[in-house]
Amino acid sequence: MSTPHINSKKNDFSKIVLMCGDPIRAKYIAENYLKDYHQINNTRLMLAYTGYFKNKKISIMSHGIGIPSAILYVKELILEYKVKKIIRVGTCGTINHNIALRDIIISMGACTDSKVNRINFNNHDFSAIADFHMLYNAVKIAKKINIKVHVGNFFTTDSFYNDDKKMLNILNKYNILGIDMETSGIYAVASELNAKALSICTVSDHIIKKEKVSSKDRESGFNDMIKIALESTLLDDEII
Ligand code: HPA
Repeated sequence: MSTPHINSKKNDFSKIVLMCGDPIRAKYIAENYLKDYHQINNTRLMLAYTGYFKNKKISIMSHGIGIPSAILYVKELILEYKVKKIIRVGTCGTINHNIALRDIIISMGACTDSKVNRINFNNHDFSAIADFHMLYNAVKIAKKINIKVHVGNFFTTDSFYNDDKKMLNILNKYNILGIDMETSGIYAVASELNAKALSICTVSDHIIKKEKVSSKDRESGFNDMIKIALESTLLDDEII
């Protein structure tokens, strides 16, 4: 079997897939965190791998940049490869003065300037939220392994290079913690298709302070986020 964008075989994917924008980062995660991993997709070089994290079968796949790219892969994974849980492990910007570069933000929900969710939701505003149990487990694990996280609302934008000061003020006023380009779409598609999703991001850009993480420093913050994501997959969905 294969889909228009994924040339993996049936059962190549785990039911749990970590996803990030950059294919090279997907390769990095597989090489550094998974045992007995192998590459399962190379269509358009949107690399995917499956291996084992502490005996749990886990897949990693890149989703590219922006909602249209990300949800195309998420849809094909859920519908064709029967994936049940998606954990985005990405980078984000922030405008919040209490959040620093390299901090980790877990997205409870995500607003958007994209029209995609409205197109699918009869032109109404869909509340794009994380799966509660995945969020709960990620926060619990972060606490256990002593990694500080922020938890709150995201704004998913179609426009990376947007300097609209009025909009930045509104985002601040509404206490938006993270700005990315995929989370709101991924949450909506997971809801639509009865799957579960969580987005965890490391802050790579402070938009107000005009600061950026250097490529060398990206790795350590990134590693903490990966640890939270992978360790959280080992927990059951508790009823609380
Ligand atoms: N804006 C949107 N998406 C992002 C950013 C940003 O500043 N940084 C990383 N992803």
